[in-house]
Amino acid sequence: MIELAESRSAHNYHPLPVVIASAEGAWVTDVEGKRYLDCLAGYSSLNFGHGNPVILAAAHAQLDRVTLTSRAFFNDRFGAFASGLAELCGKDMILPMNTGAEAVETAIKVARKWGHDVKGITDPNIVVMEDNFHGRTTTIVSFSTDPDAHDGFGPYTPGFRIVKYGSAEAIADAIDENTVAVLLEPIQGEAGVLVPPDGYLRQVRELCTERGVLMIADEIQSGLGRTGDTFACDHENVVPDMYVLGKALGGGVVPVSALAADADVLGVIKPGQHGSTFGGNPLACAVGETVVNLLKSGEYQARARELESVLFEGLRALPGVTAVRGRGLWAGVDVDPSLATGRQVCERLMARGVLAKDTHGSTIRLAPPLVVEAREIEWALAQLGAVLTGSELRAAGGRP
Ligand SMILES: Cc1ncc(COP(=O)(O)O)c(C=O)c1O
Repeated sequence: MIELAESRSAHNYHPLPVVIASAEGAWVTDVEGKRYLDCLAGYSSLNFGHGNPVILAAAHAQLDRVTLTSRAFFNDRFGAFASGLAELCGKDMILPMNTGAEAVETAIKVARKWGHDVKGITDPNIVVMEDNFHGRTTTIVSFSTDPDAHDGFGPYTPGFRIVKYGSAEAIADAIDENTVAVLLEPIQGEAGVLVPPDGYLRQVRELCTERGVLMIADEIQSGLGRTGDTFACDHENVVPDMYVLGKALGGGVVPVSALAADADVLGVIKPGQHGSTFGGNPLACAVGETVVNLLKSGEYQARARELESVLFEGLRALPGVTAVRGRGLWAGVDVDPSLATGRQVCERLMARGVLAKDTHGSTIRLAPPLVVEAREIEWALAQLGAVLTGSELRAAGGRP
């Protein structure tokens, strides 16, 4: 099965050698019937768990009614989704798309158009962060500082200024009269779950207000419950001008992404200037509205908050772990590189029934679905402990 997939698809991923056939809650089952605790959760797309019964019921019901209309017409699910999500975000309106990268592209377009129409800027720039990850389109990789994501894909889209993440001074220095926006992840996920210094988001907020530029928070991975709040920005009581949302908004069922902003910002987009055939389709809206309602209950945010200490205290107690970063149920874990690479750790975890993903050398990311139980986290940490202390690393080719 793996051979077939590998021989007939581009090698744009390097998956762990596990073939998943079914899933429920925080667990997946492979084609041989072996179960694994899913500690990646589709890069946080599965915050509400695999096969969440409430989301599935909404999707099933919608499948039998109507699934796609295009935005050439209204559909009877769109209004409730748009108003529910706007309300959750405390914003006037949303603009729905499908994938995360599309939503980021949309945010860039909206910021440029806002700069053009409202501020009369014809040569706009957007301040972005080192080690960012916002997706894979040609414009987005133009301002990536990761050589794998960036190199060889030029010519690059101009109009971005890259500054050090975590430094409000660096942003202040980069903003000039042509700056229309500052785009950042409130916690940098793909970079290794990098949490900025306390007060950073608040400083960025104040700076953007003072200098009259839009603060755009890419909450595609950090948002929708993952960090113990609805948004990672909530941790500093910061409200950006624009939220960029995706991943968990689709409930692990369909791709759903969106921008949320006030009318003075999103209102700059007029008919014909932006769109997507599938954006805002009835199936996506039915799922998205259900996700919004789950978040409105606060239950998932509370779970992430309550389980945070189980995850982080457990990780910090493990031998071979050199640093732990994160918030809620989202951790970046650096393992001693003399013990193993992140990939080797993930392979050995897999053998022990835990699925996780490495990033950048010796860092692994843990982000289980928010339905995970405390005892399941403890069990996963015991597996990680066994991997880091055990002879298995030597068996896996790790450096003893
Ligand atoms: C912060 C952030 N922005 C954007 C994206 C891109 O999302 P998608 O893969 O749905 O295009 C990701 C994906 O990992 C992400 O983590």
